[in-house]
Amino acid sequence: MTDNDTLQRAIVRSDASIRTVMARLDRNRIKLGLVLDEGGRLLRTVTDGDIRRALLGGALLDDAISCLPPQRAVTVPEKTAPAQLLQEMDRHGVNALVVTDAAGEPVDLVDRGMLSGAILLSPPHMGGGEAAHVQQAFDDNWVAPAGPNLDAFEKRLAVLSTREHAVAVSSGTAGLHLAMRALNLPRGARVYVSDLTFVGSVQPLLYERLEPVLIDAEPGTWNMSPGALRRQIEADAASDRKGAAILLVHLYGQSANVGEILTIAEEHGLPLVEDAAESLGAVYDNRPSGAHGVISVYSFNGNKIITTSSGGALVTDDPKIAERARYLATQGRDPVEHYQHGTIAYNYRMSNILAGVGLGQLDVLSDRVAARRAIFERYKAGLSDLPGIAFQEDSPRSLGNRWLTSIEFDPNRLAIHPYQIMRKLRQGGIETRPGWKPLHMQPLCHGFAFAPHSEKVTVSAAHFQRALCLPTGSNLTVAEQDRIIAAVRSILTENLV
Ligand SMILES: Cc1ncc(COP(=O)(O)O)c(C=O)c1O
Repeated sequence: MTDNDTLQRAIVRSDASIRTVMARLDRNRIKLGLVLDEGGRLLRTVTDGDIRRALLGGALLDDAISCLPPQRAVTVPEKTAPAQLLQEMDRHGVNALVVTDAAGEPVDLVDRGMLSGAILLSPPHMGGGEAAHVQQAFDDNWVAPAGPNLDAFEKRLAVLSTREHAVAVSSGTAGLHLAMRALNLPRGARVYVSDLTFVGSVQPLLYERLEPVLIDAEPGTWNMSPGALRRQIEADAASDRKGAAILLVHLYGQSANVGEILTIAEEHGLPLVEDAAESLGAVYDNRPSGAHGVISVYSFNGNKIITTSSGGALVTDDPKIAERARYLATQGRDPVEHYQHGTIAYNYRMSNILAGVGLGQLDVLSDRVAARRAIFERYKAGLSDLPGIAFQEDSPRSLGNRWLTSIEFDPNRLAIHPYQIMRKLRQGGIETRPGWKPLHMQPLCHGFAFAPHSEKVTVSAAHFQRALCLPTGSNLTVAEQDRIIAAVRSILTENLV
């Protein structure tokens, strides 16, 4: 039996009552229940229609499903093409099929909606336990940016990231802003930041009138180039413009080369802040991503590997930094009876309700990481034989969470631009997105220094021109992955040069 989530939820016992099966289909929003024999082979399927007909024929809700008239399940072998799946459904007049392996054991469920409906890039994926924590917040009336869910969420995040302290806030951007404030950098200080990233990495520097120095990516991992960083820091030191900190992004969930970057940071006495917004659940050097810098920040935005709808957290081992971050996140109130404030501060705390969502999501983090890694491997197995395709590599000593699978298409091997691929896929109901536009190409960052990987190569700009991110939601079914692979293959094979 596979560990396919949808499939597991569809399996019902042969002695279950009609009521139990109906509740299960309803709760899991699936069209088909599967009854298996003791060897794991499919005995029959149960649909809403089967149940409706049985009830109309006089069956009672507490009767066992074995009273339903026998019905042969419609099955298809693995790797059946999406178009053929639709044909099979039409031929049998059904809206769902069971995919079985060579031994006749079910390995996936496919329904019509999956084959024709839109597939989103990285939608939220609730684990089922979130609502109980949110309900608890209502029951206790902790409907506030404080309370037991928030305390528990922070404790679990600290443990998860192997840090002494976690401060949960309203977004990853807010967490990075607090990180910059907590470092007490003077206005105008130079901060070395990954060039290939989402704008949320750099906005907090600009809030603080810090000066971003944009460091190109390296080939392969597309994360900050240690060579470019070292050259820029040494050039700055030689011209008396010494930088003040490094802000290192872990792109698409794969860790940057933290070992080399930390060595450079230590040599030059620069604090390292990790923008781990995308990399919760990744591992570097046997420690969690976000366990290495002075401060690290996670995002729980709706598209991230786990979500609180919007939210973030700052983690650190330094009690003074944690205390300062909490103080700045709550309007900078001085510790006196009355409302006294001596510094510019923010209203950045996470709500106790959203922390409840976060608690439920933490329960399933390892499943979500496993699912995204499996999706990456499936894309790789299904596409990497095509010429002109490159997948993001993991840094040495690391294992990424594969939050997004980004592919680079080589314009010398393919006569089609990534945006044309994106539009064609969109017509087939598949959402993809371009790779991040590098900061040095953003109007917002016009005029800031940029250190390319080498004199001849700018990795981030090439990535932007070549890359697309494929759907990687952890609730993506195997059939949906196959549909995406088939669509990409067909577009590329028609456009080989
Ligand atoms: C690399 C990176 N940094 C920062 C952020 C900002 O996080 P948030 O959207 O939670 O503010 C994001 C994501 O949105 C991100 O991907």
